[in-house]
Amino acid sequence: MNAGGGMDGIDRGPGAGEIPLLTVEDLTVGFGGGEDGGMSIPLQGVSLRVPRATRMSLVGESGSGKSLTASAVLGLLPEGARVLRGSIRLEGEELIGADERRMRRLRGGRIAIMFQNPRASLNPVHTVGGQIAEVIRVHSGAGRRESRNRAVDLLDQMGIPDARRRASDYVHQYSGGMAQRAVLAMALSCRPDLLIADEPTTGLDATLQQQVLDLVIEQVKARGASLLLITHDIAIARQTCEQIAVMYAGRVMESGPTEEVTAAAANPYTAALLKAFVTVDRGRMYAIPGTVPTLSGPLAECPFADRCEMVGPECRERVPELRRIGGREVACVKA
Ligand SMILES: Nc1ncnc2c1ncn2[C@@H]1O[C@H](COP(=O)(O)OP(=O)(O)O)[C@@H](O)[C@H]1O
Ligand SMILES: [Mg+2]
Repeated sequence: MNAGGGMDGIDRGPGAGEIPLLTVEDLTVGFGGGEDGGMSIPLQGVSLRVPRATRMSLVGESGSGKSLTASAVLGLLPEGARVLRGSIRLEGEELIGADERRMRRLRGGRIAIMFQNPRASLNPVHTVGGQIAEVIRVHSGAGRRESRNRAVDLLDQMGIPDARRRASDYVHQYSGGMAQRAVLAMALSCRPDLLIADEPTTGLDATLQQQVLDLVIEQVKARGASLLLITHDIAIARQTCEQIAVMYAGRVMESGPTEEVTAAAANPYTAALLKAFVTVDRGRMYAIPGTVPTLSGPLAECPFADRCEMVGPECRERVPELRRIGGREVACVKA
Protein backbone atom coordinates (compact mmCIF):
# COMPACT_ATOMS: atom_id res chain seq x y z
CA MET A 1 0.00 0.00 0.00
CA ASN A 2 0.92 3.65 0.00
CA ALA A 3 3.77 3.64 2.49
CA GLY A 4 4.91 7.15 1.54
CA GLY A 5 1.78 8.81 2.94
CA GLY A 6 0.54 11.93 1.20
CA MET A 7 3.07 11.51 -1.62
CA ASP A 8 0.45 10.59 -4.18
CA GLY A 9 0.50 13.92 -5.97
CA ILE A 10 -3.02 15.00 -4.98
CA ASP A 11 -3.30 18.67 -4.06
CA ARG A 12 -4.38 18.71 -0.45
CA GLY A 13 -4.36 22.45 -0.02
CA PRO A 14 -2.56 24.37 2.71
CA GLY A 15 -0.03 22.36 4.75
CA ALA A 16 0.00 19.63 2.11
CA GLY A 17 3.74 19.20 2.38
CA GLU A 18 3.70 17.62 5.83
CA ILE A 19 2.74 14.06 6.53
CA PRO A 20 -0.18 14.17 9.02
CA LEU A 21 0.12 12.23 12.26
CA LEU A 22 -2.92 10.15 11.32
CA THR A 23 -4.24 9.60 7.81
CA VAL A 24 -7.37 7.58 7.17
CA GLU A 25 -8.18 7.08 3.52
CA ASP A 26 -11.21 5.46 1.95
CA LEU A 27 -11.69 3.25 5.01
CA THR A 28 -14.45 0.77 4.29
CA VAL A 29 -15.53 -1.75 6.91
CA GLY A 30 -18.15 -4.48 6.59
CA PHE A 31 -19.79 -7.05 8.84
CA GLY A 32 -20.88 -10.48 7.72
CA GLY A 33 -21.00 -11.32 4.05
CA GLY A 34 -20.03 -14.94 4.58
CA GLU A 35 -22.01 -17.87 3.23
CA ASP A 36 -24.86 -17.11 5.62
CA GLY A 37 -25.66 -14.05 3.50
CA GLY A 38 -26.29 -10.60 5.03
CA MET A 39 -23.60 -7.97 4.76
CA SER A 40 -23.61 -4.54 6.33
CA ILE A 41 -21.08 -1.85 5.45
CA PRO A 42 -21.17 0.72 8.25
CA LEU A 43 -17.99 2.52 7.09
CA GLN A 44 -18.08 3.48 3.43
CA GLY A 45 -14.89 5.27 2.50
CA VAL A 46 -13.99 7.36 5.56
CA SER A 47 -11.18 9.84 4.93
CA LEU A 48 -9.57 11.98 7.63
CA ARG A 49 -6.25 13.63 8.34
CA VAL A 50 -5.18 14.61 11.83
CA PRO A 51 -2.04 16.78 11.78
CA ARG A 52 0.48 16.75 14.62
CA ALA A 53 -0.42 18.71 17.77
CA THR A 54 -3.96 19.31 16.52
CA ARG A 55 -7.34 18.70 18.09
CA MET A 56 -9.93 17.27 15.75
CA SER A 57 -13.48 16.30 16.57
CA LEU A 58 -15.43 13.56 14.87
CA VAL A 59 -19.10 14.53 15.08
CA GLY A 60 -22.31 12.89 13.97
CA GLU A 61 -25.51 11.30 15.17
CA SER A 62 -25.42 7.99 16.95
CA GLY A 63 -24.82 5.18 14.47
CA SER A 64 -22.84 7.26 11.97
CA GLY A 65 -19.68 5.19 12.43
CA LYS A 66 -17.56 7.30 14.77
CA SER A 67 -16.65 4.57 17.26
CA LEU A 68 -16.05 2.05 14.53
CA THR A 69 -13.59 4.45 12.90
CA ALA A 70 -11.76 4.77 16.23
CA SER A 71 -11.74 0.98 16.68
CA ALA A 72 -10.23 0.54 13.23
CA VAL A 73 -7.44 3.02 14.03
CA LEU A 74 -6.70 1.11 17.23
CA GLY A 75 -6.80 -2.23 15.46
CA LEU A 76 -9.68 -3.27 17.72
CA LEU A 77 -12.56 -3.83 15.33
CA PRO A 78 -15.39 -5.90 16.81
CA GLU A 79 -15.76 -9.59 16.07
CA GLY A 80 -17.04 -10.15 12.55
CA ALA A 81 -15.88 -6.80 11.17
CA ARG A 82 -13.56 -6.72 8.17
CA VAL A 83 -11.64 -3.91 6.50
CA LEU A 84 -12.75 -4.15 2.88
CA ARG A 85 -10.72 -1.26 1.54
CA GLY A 86 -8.62 1.70 2.52
CA SER A 87 -5.61 2.77 4.47
CA ILE A 88 -4.83 3.94 8.00
CA ARG A 89 -1.39 5.43 8.46
CA LEU A 90 0.35 6.67 11.56
CA GLU A 91 2.78 9.07 9.98
CA GLY A 92 4.25 6.84 7.28
CA GLU A 93 3.32 3.49 8.79
CA GLU A 94 0.41 1.49 7.39
CA LEU A 95 -1.66 0.02 10.22
CA ILE A 96 -4.09 -2.05 8.20
CA GLY A 97 -2.69 -5.54 8.16
CA ALA A 98 -0.12 -4.73 10.85
CA ASP A 99 0.41 -7.69 13.17
CA GLU A 100 -1.21 -7.80 16.59
CA ARG A 101 2.11 -7.44 18.41
CA ARG A 102 2.81 -4.18 16.62
CA MET A 103 -0.71 -2.86 17.28
CA ARG A 104 -0.41 -3.73 20.97
CA ARG A 105 2.78 -1.69 21.15
CA LEU A 106 1.10 1.27 19.46
CA ARG A 107 -1.95 1.15 21.73
CA GLY A 108 -0.99 2.61 25.02
CA GLY A 109 2.23 3.71 23.33
CA ARG A 110 1.83 6.19 20.50
CA ILE A 111 -1.97 5.98 20.48
CA ALA A 112 -4.09 6.09 23.63
CA ILE A 113 -7.83 5.84 24.09
CA MET A 114 -10.35 6.95 26.66
CA PHE A 115 -13.94 5.75 26.52
CA GLN A 116 -17.23 6.99 27.87
CA ASN A 117 -17.36 4.72 30.89
CA PRO A 118 -14.25 5.23 33.04
CA ARG A 119 -15.12 2.37 35.38
CA ALA A 120 -15.01 -0.06 32.49
CA SER A 121 -11.54 1.18 31.51
CA LEU A 122 -9.94 0.58 34.90
CA ASN A 123 -9.47 -2.83 36.40
CA PRO A 124 -11.62 -3.18 39.54
CA VAL A 125 -9.26 -5.63 41.27
CA HIS A 126 -6.12 -3.49 41.12
CA THR A 127 -5.60 -0.11 42.76
CA VAL A 128 -5.82 2.89 40.43
CA GLY A 129 -2.21 3.90 41.07
CA GLY A 130 -1.01 0.31 40.80
CA GLN A 131 -2.39 -0.20 37.30
CA ILE A 132 -1.12 3.12 36.00
CA ALA A 133 2.32 2.33 37.45
CA GLU A 134 2.25 -1.09 35.79
CA VAL A 135 1.56 0.46 32.38
CA ILE A 136 4.44 2.89 32.90
CA ARG A 137 6.74 0.07 34.02
CA VAL A 138 5.94 -2.16 31.03
CA HIS A 139 6.19 0.59 28.42
CA SER A 140 9.15 2.55 29.77
CA GLY A 141 11.14 -0.10 31.57
CA ALA A 142 11.32 2.08 34.70
CA GLY A 143 11.61 0.34 38.07
CA ARG A 144 8.65 -0.25 40.38
CA ARG A 145 9.25 2.63 42.75
CA GLU A 146 9.98 5.07 39.92
CA SER A 147 6.84 3.94 38.04
CA ARG A 148 4.76 4.34 41.16
CA ASN A 149 6.05 7.87 41.70
CA ARG A 150 5.32 8.79 38.11
CA ALA A 151 1.79 7.41 38.42
CA VAL A 152 1.18 9.51 41.53
CA ASP A 153 2.58 12.60 39.75
CA LEU A 154 0.24 12.02 36.85
CA LEU A 155 -2.80 11.63 39.10
CA ASP A 156 -1.76 14.85 40.81
CA GLN A 157 -1.41 16.64 37.44
CA MET A 158 -4.91 15.46 36.54
CA GLY A 159 -6.22 17.35 39.56
CA ILE A 160 -6.85 14.40 41.87
CA PRO A 161 -6.53 15.76 45.41
CA ASP A 162 -4.26 13.90 47.79
CA ALA A 163 -2.99 11.84 44.87
CA ARG A 164 -0.50 9.70 46.80
CA ARG A 165 -3.22 8.38 49.07
CA ARG A 166 -5.89 8.14 46.32
CA ALA A 167 -3.46 6.09 44.21
CA SER A 168 -4.03 3.22 46.64
CA ASP A 169 -7.80 3.30 46.18
CA TYR A 170 -9.82 1.11 43.85
CA VAL A 171 -11.88 2.62 41.05
CA HIS A 172 -15.17 1.99 42.87
CA GLN A 173 -13.93 4.40 45.54
CA TYR A 174 -13.66 7.17 42.91
CA SER A 175 -16.53 9.43 41.79
CA GLY A 176 -17.37 9.48 38.06
CA GLY A 177 -15.40 12.67 37.43
CA MET A 178 -12.38 11.45 39.41
CA ALA A 179 -12.46 8.10 37.63
CA GLN A 180 -12.37 9.86 34.26
CA ARG A 181 -9.38 11.90 35.46
CA ALA A 182 -7.65 8.66 36.42
CA VAL A 183 -8.41 7.19 32.99
CA LEU A 184 -6.85 10.28 31.42
CA ALA A 185 -3.77 9.79 33.61
CA MET A 186 -3.58 6.19 32.40
CA ALA A 187 -4.02 7.26 28.76
CA LEU A 188 -1.28 9.87 29.03
CA SER A 189 1.10 7.66 31.00
CA CYS A 190 2.86 6.47 27.85
CA ARG A 191 3.15 9.92 26.30
CA PRO A 192 0.95 9.21 23.27
CA ASP A 193 1.17 11.28 20.09
CA LEU A 194 -2.54 10.73 19.57
CA LEU A 195 -5.28 10.55 22.18
CA ILE A 196 -8.61 9.21 20.97
CA ALA A 197 -11.43 10.15 23.33
CA ASP A 198 -14.76 8.49 22.51
CA GLU A 199 -17.59 10.45 24.15
CA PRO A 200 -15.40 10.90 27.26
CA THR A 201 -17.87 13.10 29.11
CA THR A 202 -21.23 11.67 28.07
CA GLY A 203 -22.94 10.57 31.28
CA LEU A 204 -21.25 13.19 33.47
CA ASP A 205 -23.27 16.19 34.63
CA ALA A 206 -22.71 19.50 32.83
CA THR A 207 -20.22 20.98 35.31
CA LEU A 208 -18.07 17.85 35.47
CA GLN A 209 -18.31 17.50 31.70
CA GLN A 210 -16.79 20.95 31.28
CA GLN A 211 -14.06 20.28 33.84
CA VAL A 212 -13.01 17.01 32.24
CA LEU A 213 -13.05 18.51 28.73
CA ASP A 214 -10.97 21.47 29.88
CA LEU A 215 -8.49 19.08 31.46
CA VAL A 216 -8.23 16.92 28.34
CA ILE A 217 -7.60 20.00 26.16
CA GLU A 218 -5.06 21.46 28.59
CA GLN A 219 -3.12 18.19 28.88
CA VAL A 220 -3.13 17.41 25.18
CA LYS A 221 -1.92 20.95 24.40
CA ALA A 222 0.79 20.88 27.07
CA ARG A 223 2.13 17.60 25.71
CA GLY A 224 2.03 18.60 22.05
CA ALA A 225 -0.17 15.59 21.34
CA SER A 226 -3.10 15.39 18.92
CA LEU A 227 -6.65 14.68 20.00
CA LEU A 228 -9.38 12.90 18.10
CA LEU A 229 -12.47 13.73 20.12
CA ILE A 230 -15.55 11.71 19.26
CA THR A 231 -18.86 13.31 20.18
CA HIS A 232 -22.48 13.43 19.03
CA ASP A 233 -22.62 17.02 20.31
CA ILE A 234 -21.50 19.64 17.82
CA ALA A 235 -21.43 22.23 20.62
CA ILE A 236 -18.68 20.27 22.37
CA ALA A 237 -16.79 19.89 19.10
CA ARG A 238 -17.00 23.60 18.49
CA GLN A 239 -15.65 24.65 21.84
CA THR A 240 -12.79 22.15 22.06
CA CYS A 241 -11.28 21.41 18.66
CA GLU A 242 -9.59 23.41 15.91
CA GLN A 243 -10.65 20.94 13.24
CA ILE A 244 -13.94 19.19 12.75
CA ALA A 245 -15.00 16.18 10.69
CA VAL A 246 -18.73 15.58 10.38
CA MET A 247 -19.70 11.96 9.80
CA TYR A 248 -22.94 10.52 8.53
CA ALA A 249 -23.83 6.98 7.52
CA GLY A 250 -20.23 5.83 7.48
CA ARG A 251 -18.79 8.75 5.52
CA VAL A 252 -17.22 12.10 6.19
CA MET A 253 -19.68 14.71 4.93
CA GLU A 254 -17.62 17.80 5.67
CA SER A 255 -14.31 18.52 7.37
CA GLY A 256 -12.06 21.49 7.95
CA PRO A 257 -11.28 24.28 10.40
CA THR A 258 -14.03 24.33 13.04
CA GLU A 259 -14.62 28.06 12.79
CA GLU A 260 -14.98 28.01 9.04
CA VAL A 261 -17.25 24.96 9.01
CA THR A 262 -19.54 26.03 11.86
CA ALA A 263 -19.79 29.68 10.73
CA ALA A 264 -21.31 28.58 7.44
CA ALA A 265 -21.90 24.87 6.91
CA ALA A 266 -21.39 23.83 3.30
CA ASN A 267 -23.08 20.45 3.74
CA PRO A 268 -26.80 20.46 4.65
CA TYR A 269 -26.11 17.67 7.15
CA THR A 270 -23.68 19.89 9.07
CA ALA A 271 -26.28 22.67 8.88
CA ALA A 272 -28.91 20.32 10.32
CA LEU A 273 -26.64 19.34 13.23
CA LEU A 274 -25.95 23.01 13.96
CA LYS A 275 -29.65 23.85 13.80
CA ALA A 276 -30.48 21.00 16.17
CA PHE A 277 -27.91 22.33 18.62
CA VAL A 278 -29.05 25.98 18.49
CA THR A 279 -32.66 24.93 19.01
CA VAL A 280 -31.81 22.71 21.98
CA ASP A 281 -29.82 25.61 23.42
CA ARG A 282 -32.94 27.77 23.31
CA GLY A 283 -34.87 25.18 25.25
CA ARG A 284 -36.87 23.68 22.42
CA MET A 285 -36.39 20.20 21.08
CA TYR A 286 -35.31 19.72 17.54
CA ALA A 287 -34.07 16.55 16.01
CA ILE A 288 -33.24 16.05 12.37
CA PRO A 289 -36.33 14.29 10.96
CA GLY A 290 -35.81 10.68 9.90
CA THR A 291 -33.19 8.16 10.98
CA VAL A 292 -29.63 7.22 10.09
CA PRO A 293 -29.83 4.54 7.40
CA THR A 294 -28.45 1.04 7.88
CA LEU A 295 -26.12 0.29 5.04
CA SER A 296 -26.36 -3.15 3.59
CA GLY A 297 -24.36 -2.48 0.43
CA PRO A 298 -22.59 0.23 -1.50
CA LEU A 299 -24.74 3.32 -1.91
CA ALA A 300 -25.91 4.76 -5.20
CA GLU A 301 -26.92 8.21 -3.94
CA CYS A 302 -26.14 10.73 -1.23
CA PRO A 303 -26.76 8.94 2.10
CA PHE A 304 -28.50 12.04 3.50
CA ALA A 305 -30.80 12.52 0.47
CA ASP A 306 -33.94 11.15 2.15
CA ARG A 307 -33.64 13.58 5.07
CA CYS A 308 -32.19 16.61 3.31
CA GLU A 309 -34.18 19.83 2.93
CA MET A 310 -32.16 20.75 -0.15
CA VAL A 311 -32.40 17.42 -1.96
CA GLY A 312 -32.62 17.52 -5.77
CA PRO A 313 -32.49 14.95 -8.57
CA GLU A 314 -28.70 15.31 -8.91
CA CYS A 315 -28.33 14.04 -5.31
CA ARG A 316 -29.80 10.71 -6.42
CA GLU A 317 -27.42 10.15 -9.29
CA ARG A 318 -24.32 9.13 -7.35
CA VAL A 319 -22.58 9.27 -3.98
CA PRO A 320 -20.92 12.67 -3.59
CA GLU A 321 -17.14 12.52 -3.14
CA LEU A 322 -15.25 14.81 -0.76
CA ARG A 323 -14.12 17.90 -2.70
CA ARG A 324 -11.90 20.70 -1.47
CA ILE A 325 -13.69 24.06 -1.21
CA GLY A 326 -11.57 26.78 0.39
CA GLY A 327 -10.05 25.40 3.59
CA ARG A 328 -12.53 22.56 3.91
CA GLU A 329 -13.64 19.38 2.20
CA VAL A 330 -17.30 18.78 1.44
CA ALA A 331 -19.24 15.80 0.12
CA CYS A 332 -22.33 17.44 -1.39
CA VAL A 333 -23.11 18.14 -5.04
CA LYS A 334 -24.89 21.37 -4.05
CA ALA A 335 -21.93 22.87 -2.19
N1 LIG B 1 -20.46 -5.23 16.61
C1 LIG B 1 -21.19 -4.80 15.56
N2 LIG B 1 -21.84 -5.70 14.77
C2 LIG B 1 -22.56 -5.29 13.70
N3 LIG B 1 -22.70 -4.01 13.33
C3 LIG B 1 -22.08 -3.07 14.08
C4 LIG B 1 -21.28 -3.41 15.22
N4 LIG B 1 -20.79 -2.27 15.75
C5 LIG B 1 -21.24 -1.26 14.97
N5 LIG B 1 -22.02 -1.75 13.96
C6 LIG B 1 -22.68 -0.96 12.91
O1 LIG B 1 -21.93 0.21 12.68
C7 LIG B 1 -22.76 1.36 12.80
C8 LIG B 1 -21.94 2.47 13.39
O2 LIG B 1 -21.63 2.18 14.72
P1 LIG B 1 -20.74 3.12 15.62
O3 LIG B 1 -19.41 3.32 14.99
O4 LIG B 1 -20.74 2.54 16.98
O5 LIG B 1 -21.55 4.49 15.59
P2 LIG B 1 -21.35 5.81 16.47
O6 LIG B 1 -20.15 5.64 17.32
O7 LIG B 1 -21.21 6.92 15.48
O8 LIG B 1 -22.61 5.95 17.26
C9 LIG B 1 -23.92 0.92 13.66
O9 LIG B 1 -25.08 1.63 13.37
C10 LIG B 1 -24.08 -0.54 13.30
O10 LIG B 1 -24.88 -0.64 12.14
MG1 LIG C 1 -20.01 5.64 19.42
